[in-house]
Amino acid sequence: MKNLFPSYVRVPVFFFIIFGLIEFAIESGDQPAFMKYPVVILFLLLVLIILIAIEAIIGSLENVMLHSLDEVGKERFLASKNKEVNFGWLSRLYEKLTGTRPIEEESEIILDHNYDGIKELDNALPPWWLYGFYITIIFGVVYMLKYHVFDGDNQITELETELAEAKIAIEEYKKTAKDLVDYNTVELLTDVSDLAQGKQIFDVNCVACHKADGGGGIGPNMTDEYWILGGGIKNVFKTVSEGGRDGKGMVAWKQILKPSEIAQVSSYVLQFQGTTPAEPKAAEGEIWIDESIPEETIEETTQETNAVETDSVQSGSN
Ligand code: HEC
Repeated sequence: MKNLFPSYVRVPVFFFIIFGLIEFAIESGDQPAFMKYPVVILFLLLVLIILIAIEAIIGSLENVMLHSLDEVGKERFLASKNKEVNFGWLSRLYEKLTGTRPIEEESEIILDHNYDGIKELDNALPPWWLYGFYITIIFGVVYMLKYHVFDGDNQITELETELAEAKIAIEEYKKTAKDLVDYNTVELLTDVSDLAQGKQIFDVNCVACHKADGGGGIGPNMTDEYWILGGGIKNVFKTVSEGGRDGKGMVAWKQILKPSEIAQVSSYVLQFQGTTPAEPKAAEGEIWIDESIPEETIEETTQETNAVETDSVQSGSN
């Protein structure tokens, strides 16, 4: 029987091959299979125990065989066994990396001092250590040149670029996911197609109470600057999605319309501002002052008109 690998290599190699196959075969998303399905760990443990058991059985079989051999056979067997361990490429690699001299050559490197019978060998630095050391020197030089001489990005700049990229990605995502808008993020839409969509939604759902020209009926007039529930895209969006005051007849349209549609119809509604409807309903609510507009214009408009607080809405059918 000729073995290329000793058992302490064989067992881990077989184990990791099986482990790899399991990870490959089980669909577990971005988590490793053994974390998603803990039962896999049990299975792997079982595999490990079986592998060790097989090695143990083979080992004891060899032992039994050895006892049944005659002297010559025994010697031959033991010789082949030793060869197997010594000739493994692994042990040769190990010797190369540690750079140790065989005991027979020790006389060549022994130093002459002798401390009460304790002698010292002049061993060379182990190659694994020496090459590791050279690699760190090269790494250090490259690192110094890149970050201290040629001013490479430090962590903060890297973080900032990544954040900027993420921000762009979020903007891109928002463009494709218009239904993510809510009261806080909604903006007045000015796109012709959005406004056309808004008009369509208005004609189907809102005309009955607000009239096609926004002049008002059951619902208030939306062409003037008076608003019961606040003007501006944010307030209008909120009114349309959450509804008006209880019992007034304006329902919460979020049950029926998607957020993107509410944004469209709200933007369309705001187009009525300043137009003259055929039968305008008397103003209701207060003049809406948009805080984002500069102060001068606000003063002018407040002086021109006095706020009228009338509540003549006939209770609409709900
Ligand atoms: C059943 C009748 C009815 C329908 C249909 C209706 N509304 Fe209204 N709407 C009202 C009433 C009544 C009010 C006043 C609510 C209040 O006083 O709280 C109102 C208020 C509003 C306001 C706030 C006006 C202000 O002065 O603050 C907006 C904006 C509005 N509606 C938009 C819409 C839109 C957009 C639709 C269609 C999706 C719609 N409404 C459909 C009856 C209606």
